[in-house]
Amino acid sequence: MSAPATLDVGGLRKVFFPGTANEVVALNGIDLEVPAGQFVSIIGSNGSGKSTLLNAVAGTFPLSGGTITLGGRDVTKQAEHVRSRVIGRVFQDPRAGTAPSMTIEENLAISLLRSKRSGLRRGVTNRRREVMRAQLSRLHMGLEDRLKAGVNKLSGGQRQAMSLLMATIAEPSLLLLDEHTAALDPKVAATIMELTAAIVIERGLTTLMVTHNMELALRYGDRLIMMHGGRVVLDLDEQQKSTLEVGDLIEKFHEVAGEAFAVDRMLLE
Ligand SMILES: Nc1ncnc2c1ncn2[C@@H]1O[C@H](COP(=O)(O)OP(=O)(O)O)[C@@H](O)[C@H]1O
Ligand SMILES: [Mg+2]
Repeated sequence: MSAPATLDVGGLRKVFFPGTANEVVALNGIDLEVPAGQFVSIIGSNGSGKSTLLNAVAGTFPLSGGTITLGGRDVTKQAEHVRSRVIGRVFQDPRAGTAPSMTIEENLAISLLRSKRSGLRRGVTNRRREVMRAQLSRLHMGLEDRLKAGVNKLSGGQRQAMSLLMATIAEPSLLLLDEHTAALDPKVAATIMELTAAIVIERGLTTLMVTHNMELALRYGDRLIMMHGGRVVLDLDEQQKSTLEVGDLIEKFHEVAGEAFAVDRMLLE
């Protein structure tokens, strides 16, 4: 088990295909300090670098520049699989977070073990089963009575709820959510969002949540960051955020993004 940690990102740069005709500067100098327990919403146009920022923090690829510290520890050069012990992630695709050929309890057991050191007994013990049942029952989807069911039998919303549980069951130092409700029906998306907020707030998790939905970004989280062209162009604290409405945010977006905004309009609604 680990505790929610401070994330400190300094001078972060990521250039894909450097020195070629296809060069893309996806992150162009990001400085960001997220205190332990803070819940940050991140918005921005398509291609502004939101997913690249989360991938960089998770260690998916080597950086072109900058440093990342988590809980005061420099993890810049740490391999992704090592960081994944303390970083929980949920992606847009409900299938990405769970192993389809395994049962509900096997999936959860993997998440519980991921954060632990080797030497612990593997597999599903009775005590672990109790932890799982308790966690599953809070989803109000009846999954606590279906521990032996294959995850491929679940609906998209149920799988995304499972993904969220798996990302948080081991008390991650950091939680990364990349448009994790975008592929769901509106009603299911709302359920998953409420569940997310409940878990994040109850456990005080340090969280970065990327969303296309400005209304969600304003309603949830204690800070709102807007990205554009690989930079942070707006950074609002809870108090500033509380005075804004979607219309104000769109205006601010227009100021920084100019014409690019019109193209992205649909994606932001
Ligand atoms: N693995 C990759 N290889 C090459 N280019 C990438 C890769 N990932 C992202 N990009 C490029 O980096 C830019 C930022 O992408 P991304 O971070 O996915 O944007 P967002 O999540 O804000 O929509 C885009 O131009 C995208 O095409
Ligand atoms: Mg993205």
